[in-house]
Amino acid sequence: MMTNIYQISDENISKAADVIKNGGLVAFPTETVYGLGANVYNPKAVASIYAAKGRPAFNPLISHIAEIDFLKTYAAVDERVLALAKHFWPGPLTFVLKRIDDNPALDLACAGLRTVTVRMPRHKVALDLIKKSGVPIVAPSANKSQTISPTTAMHVADSLGDKVDMILDGGQCTVGVESTIIDLTSKDVVLLRAGGVAVEDLEAFLGQKILISHGNPNLPTSPGQMLKHYAPSHEFRINAHCREDGEFFIGFGDVKDCDLNLSESGDLIEAAANLFSYMRIADSDKTHTKIAMSPVPEKGLGLAINDRIRRAAYKK
Ligand code: TXA
Ligand code: MG
Repeated sequence: MMTNIYQISDENISKAADVIKNGGLVAFPTETVYGLGANVYNPKAVASIYAAKGRPAFNPLISHIAEIDFLKTYAAVDERVLALAKHFWPGPLTFVLKRIDDNPALDLACAGLRTVTVRMPRHKVALDLIKKSGVPIVAPSANKSQTISPTTAMHVADSLGDKVDMILDGGQCTVGVESTIIDLTSKDVVLLRAGGVAVEDLEAFLGQKILISHGNPNLPTSPGQMLKHYAPSHEFRINAHCREDGEFFIGFGDVKDCDLNLSESGDLIEAAANLFSYMRIADSDKTHTKIAMSPVPEKGLGLAINDRIRRAAYKK
């Protein structure tokens, strides 16, 4: 019997908000699909989302907010963004915006990109949960990677039941497909994913054509491809067993002679939570000119960590 599905009540939403505040995972309903939520500012909680979903790579995650003002704390907001937000939010439309916040705690949620991805959902339970949590809630769809997105609490329980602390049962999602995602980081508006808001409605509102990223090499395409542009400026050597001259050495597990250790106990969730901030520290360190990193096992979150560091070490 499933014991972690909770009916909607003020008490249960408050309880879920406490789980979020304490670094746990809550699956919650939105109008599109159920999300697997965590505190956006808690990298360990964010890492456990990737672990629960079994994602082989760090995709940037959508942060869900309940007030437009919150956007301004971490994203570049101009007239166009505000107009779109006022018209289409709350609702199934997600913006990719330039990130203005330099808080390393956000790096994992943003997959190390200098963009932040945000939406305000329309479902009352989602809005209440975000308000009670007091932080944006980062949430991908609450299903295992490569499986169909969940539109009922039971779908979530079947896919991730034992991996989440609480599932809030808000009934069937009314929209049933994921949000539309648009990139607003340049003067063009680029569609990254078709979804709950029709492109025609966006074009009519904006009075401009929306570009489709798919297959166009000059436009941002999948985040996987984008990531290779975000390599550190220092030369980066992976699978290193010891430090060589001039290297800042990031260890993993039982490694003594290192500048920072992703996880001394070999915990991959802890390692994922530290990865982006440690790479930043290493890259900005003035006393070294190169970075080296210990091997990380190719299992669990190690797949996503290795995917990211291989891209970072990639030489054009
Ligand atoms: O309706 C939705 O959007 C649901 C509910 C829970 O809000 N969420 C959802 O999240 O579908 P997720 O993580 O399953 O899908 C978001 C997609 C991912 O494929 C991610 O790679 C892409 O959006 N994405 C997010 N930020 C991006 C960025 N900065 N650039 C390119 N792609 C991005
Ligand atoms: Mg998904």
